[in-house]
Amino acid sequence: MQRLALAWKRSGTRVGFVPTMGYLHEGHVSLARDARRRVGKSGIVVVSIYVNPTQFAPTEDLSRYPRDWARDTKSCREAGVDVVFAPTDASMYAGRDAGRYSTYVVEESLAKGMEGASRPAHFRGVTTVVAKLFNVVLPDVAVFGAKDWQQAAVIRRMVADLNFPLKIVVAPTWREADGLAMSSRNAYLSPAERSQAVVLARVLAEARASVRKSRGPVQASSLRARLEAMVAVQPDARLDYLEFFDPETMVPTERVGRGTHLALAVFVGKTRLIDNGRL
Ligand code: PAF
Repeated sequence: MQRLALAWKRSGTRVGFVPTMGYLHEGHVSLARDARRRVGKSGIVVVSIYVNPTQFAPTEDLSRYPRDWARDTKSCREAGVDVVFAPTDASMYAGRDAGRYSTYVVEESLAKGMEGASRPAHFRGVTTVVAKLFNVVLPDVAVFGAKDWQQAAVIRRMVADLNFPLKIVVAPTWREADGLAMSSRNAYLSPAERSQAVVLARVLAEARASVRKSRGPVQASSLRARLEAMVAVQPDARLDYLEFFDPETMVPTERVGRGTHLALAVFVGKTRLIDNGRL
């Protein structure tokens, strides 16, 4: 992959990159189309498919993360993707099990709260694998989904701090007809869980409506209590976190107004779902 990328660089070909963990849905396809628009017809669009073990805790769903190589490559072909890069664990982390892999990338500020607090080793794995993928694919532009808002902010900071010569683009979340954010993990949901999972989108809509109809900023604590109750009435849903924050700094805020961001993580059955949006 890196040899190909170096040849593209030498010939001045622009490279657009979409890192994924596979089991692609329309949201991923929209990221690939966005990458195409940015590099043009003469550019190259690369999608990586790699379920990165270092961003999963031992208790999480690494071994059962959904995979469908045939469907993914078909989606990529239909979306006009030029190259699918699907490395193996052995090539990405050679010698890790034998203690011969020891370099990780850690962002120490934006990664601390929300996903970082709930999943302590997660962002270290994400920044490490994304840095490695950038060094292998050598993209001019990389496109990430807004559903993982904090991830995108952490990666943007890593790119700035470590001088990666590329542009990060964050593209809108794709949603099902009832508002549920598209996610590969939606495949885990039973029919009963699937209908309860829409509560994440409803919480966002309710928070947005409250902020829009209020004259001034709303107190986070009272709004939070109302939104938590919406989750609590779902028989199979359990709130992990719900946070109001500044979308640039990720700093939590008590005064919620237009432009404040809300992010939440909810277990529906055993499946952990996330969503976020601007209020
Ligand atoms: O968002 C994801 O799918 C993953 O975290 C990423 C960016 C592909 C890194 O493994």
